Amino acid sequence: MEESGVARSYRAETLQEQQAAYDDWAKQYEIDLCAMGYRIPAVMAAVAARFIPANTAPILDAGCGGGIQAEPLAMLGYGPITGIDLSEGMLEVARAKNLYQELRQMTLGEKHDFPDDNFAAIISSGTITPRHAPPKSFEELIRIARPDAPIIFSMRDDPAQEPQYPEAVNGLTDAGLWQEVFVTESFQGMPYGEPDITHRVHVYEAK
Ligand SMILES: C[S@@+](CC[C@H](N)C(=O)[O-])C[C@H]1O[C@@H](n2cnc3c(N)ncnc32)[C@H](O)[C@@H]1O
Repeated sequence: MEESGVARSYRAETLQEQQAAYDDWAKQYEIDLCAMGYRIPAVMAAVAARFIPANTAPILDAGCGGGIQAEPLAMLGYGPITGIDLSEGMLEVARAKNLYQELRQMTLGEKHDFPDDNFAAIISSGTITPRHAPPKSFEELIRIARPDAPIIFSMRDDPAQEPQYPEAVNGLTDAGLWQEVFVTESFQGMPYGEPDITHRVHVYEAK
């Protein structure tokens, strides 16, 4: 049986393997995730509408993939939105939607080619997660966020989550680099595909 895109992305051990997995999956990604009931973008959009004031700009979509997260935000009038992602194939899918002001290949967990205090809000859905962007990704996002910018991201909270992720979040809070504003209830990100994996959407304010 052919390996699914999601299984291949969970198996990736290097950035190159992850990039290739998403490049190959890009055109089918949203079809597969929607069939699994992918609902992180809907929850993120609701949270964004509550915590990102209208006319906040520019907004960064970190790990934007094919742009499914930017769609509801653009419908609400948010923008301009910049998207960054590891996979050129996923960026190509996003490009075709004409939602983003700018789309650039960049790796979360490494230094980003943006100045300090650049973005008025940052969102990241389904990306800062095991085998994808590492826990240290948050540090660079804080650097390029303006003081007081909301940083909204989904993070797994099921028992199989790697503890380094919540530890990194709490460490940055203890260091005074951001402050928790809101967290959702726990929910299944893909109830028809991965019923045992749960997430919460978090809102932090950069300092
Ligand atoms: C599950 S998808 C989420 C995409 C989009 N945010 C969504 O909700 O559909 C994960 C995305 O993270 C990207 N990715 C994986 N590791 C990354 C990294 N270290 N830096 C940047 N992007 C990464 C993949 O290319 C893929 O587009």
